[in-house]
Order: sequence, then C-alpha cells, then structure tokens
Amino acid sequence: MERLQKILAEAGYGSRRKVEKLIIEGVVTVNGQVAELGQKASRFDDIRVKGEKIILQRKVYYLLNKPEGYLCTLHDPFNRPKVTDLVPQEPRVFPVGRLDADTTGALLLTNDGQLSNHLLHPRYHVEKTYLVKVSGRVKPEDIRKLEKGIMLEDGMTLPAKAEVKKSTRDWTLVSLTITEGRKRQVKRMMKALGYPVLALHRERFGPLDVDDLKLGEFRNLTQSEIKSLRGSVRH
Ligand code: URA
Repeated sequence: MERLQKILAEAGYGSRRKVEKLIIEGVVTVNGQVAELGQKASRFDDIRVKGEKIILQRKVYYLLNKPEGYLCTLHDPFNRPKVTDLVPQEPRVFPVGRLDADTTGALLLTNDGQLSNHLLHPRYHVEKTYLVKVSGRVKPEDIRKLEKGIMLEDGMTLPAKAEVKKSTRDWTLVSLTITEGRKRQVKRMMKALGYPVLALHRERFGPLDVDDLKLGEFRNLTQSEIKSLRGSVRH
C-alpha cells in the first residue's frame, strides 16, 4: 500500500498540492468509493479521477553516452537536437541534471521523478567523475586547490578529487570528481585557475559508467544498478 497522493502524482496528475486538491474536491475514487485525504491504496486498485481510470507508467532508466551537440532541455525554441531524441519516446523520460551541449558522457534519463530529485539533491553528494582536457600545463598546486575547494561567484566548491592523467606541452588531461552539480561547475573551476577547457567528458555518474557505450548509444540500467543508485541516496 502507498499513499494515494503518491500514486496520483506518479500517474501525472500534478504536484502533491494539486493531487491533494483533487482528493479534497471529491473527484478521486478508489474501487468506487470517494477517496479521502491521507488514504492509502494499492496500484492494483481501480483508481479514478473524474471517472477516468488512471494509468501508471512503468519506470524506465536509461544510461546515455551523450554526444556533443545535444541539449539537456526538454523544449528548445530553435529545435536543436535534444538528448531525449536519442532514447525511446514512450514512456517519456527526462535527463537527471544537465550536461552542457559540448560536454559528452554519462547521462541518466528516467521517468522516476523521486529518484531524480534525490540524485540531484546536494545533501547526498553523489560523485560525478569528469575527464577534463584543458589548455596549458596544470601545476601540482592547482591540483591541490581543486581538491581543497575553489572560490566561485556562487561560493566555495566542496572538496574534490583531482589527478593529472596526461600532460603535454600544450594541454593537460585531468580527472576531476565532484559531489555537487552547479551550473557549468567544472568549466568554472578550471577557468578560475586560468585553464580554459578544451573538452569535457563525464566518465561516471554515481555508480554508473559509460565504458561499454559509444557516443550516442544508450542502454537500460540493470536491476543491480538501479538498486545501487537508490542506495547512493539513502542515508
Ligand atoms: N561542468 C561543466 O562545466 N559542464 C558540464 O556539462 C558538466 C559539469
């Protein structure tokens, strides 16, 4: 049994407040009886809103290796390619957080709003690992600064893990693991230290990696991956 509000919200009848209003208005029935606020129900009950039987979408979870040039928005006034174009259209899914159009790599898409909210919530510190190619040779003291925290216009960044993976005269490849998800955070962190970002790829999102996916490919998460994602936001 689950709270009726939760079931109705999942079936697309709006926010908690909206579905509570529907229940108070007396337009929701469970097995023919007018529902009451706070009541529990099972998803196998005959639940109706204004006489119409609700349809519960099955939950889907896709891991996409996002290619360059795709936007993480759902609507774009210029009709540019969207990440949602790369996965099945039914049931509708949305990206969990955002990657910039020119960033590649691990992106989760799902219709599980609750898990998505948790994964994006700052309190759970879900780790995201990026491979960043920057112009110039990154100094060891700057690696330490990345690890300790960098002052950005929206405050100090939390401690991160940083490591030089490869360096040449002209550019450096850095692995950077952060637990926040501020807008353009990696690019802003590197820029604050004087290194323009040439390319950015997300290798890992929490327990998920895209090692087995080519750019533009996606796959369904396994049951154990879904479990471990849920585990990463339960404290
Ligand atoms: N940080 C960025 O700057 N861009 C991204 O797309 C993701 C993290």
